[in-house]
Amino acid sequence: MNVACLSYWFPKLAATGVPVPETRIVTTDLPLCMLLDGPEQKDVRLEDWQAFVAEVRSAAKEIGGFPCFLRTGHGSGKHDWRTTCYVRDPNALGQHIFNLVEWSEMVDVFGLPTKVWAVRKLLPLLSSFTAFDGFPVNVERRYFIEGARSGAGTPTGRPNPSTGTPKTRTGAES
Ligand SMILES: Nc1ncnc2c1ncn2[C@@H]1O[C@H](COP(=O)(O)OP(=O)(O)OP(=O)(O)O)[C@@H](O)[C@H]1O
Ligand SMILES: [Mg+2]
Repeated sequence: MNVACLSYWFPKLAATGVPVPETRIVTTDLPLCMLLDGPEQKDVRLEDWQAFVAEVRSAAKEIGGFPCFLRTGHGSGKHDWRTTCYVRDPNALGQHIFNLVEWSEMVDVFGLPTKVWAVRKLLPLLSSFTAFDGFPVNVERRYFIEGARSGAGTPTGRPNPSTGTPKTRTGAES
């Protein structure tokens, strides 16, 4: 059990009844990081890879199709938006998965796990600008849920020293 993984926390979150984007989780035991060895690698068979991509594609269709939001249990590679988590073209899904595998390996010393994948309905976000590769930057709020109650959301910025209240980092992302 990995409490940082979406497959752990998302079902608990959804069960509280708070609004969540429609989400399908697909898991795989394929050693996807071996794909990074290039076309000569023999650890992931082509037919298994194609079956996995097809499974993620049908999960995406279940939540309304493309464009959709794609991430692993551990992250989205959001700063590469157009080539990672934002999937517009169903035929490019395999490439997005590959790009997220590469991101997962590069972003952490030991690499982040890539067994859990989530496709999520793409939310229309109110963002005033985009950064990096098309990533729509928003103020992010953090809510603490206790039982069926949720407290007031707080922006994930630093406290304002003059008022003691959290200051919204307009356009900032955690
Ligand atoms: N369903 C969605 N539709 C549109 N945009 C989304 C959706 N889910 C996430 N995003 C945008 O992408 C950003 C990154 O998503 P998310 O928070 O799931 O991944 P992460 O920040 O890489 O991982 P984590 O927050 O678990 O560390 C969000 O802050 C939000 O701006
Ligand atoms: Mg996040």
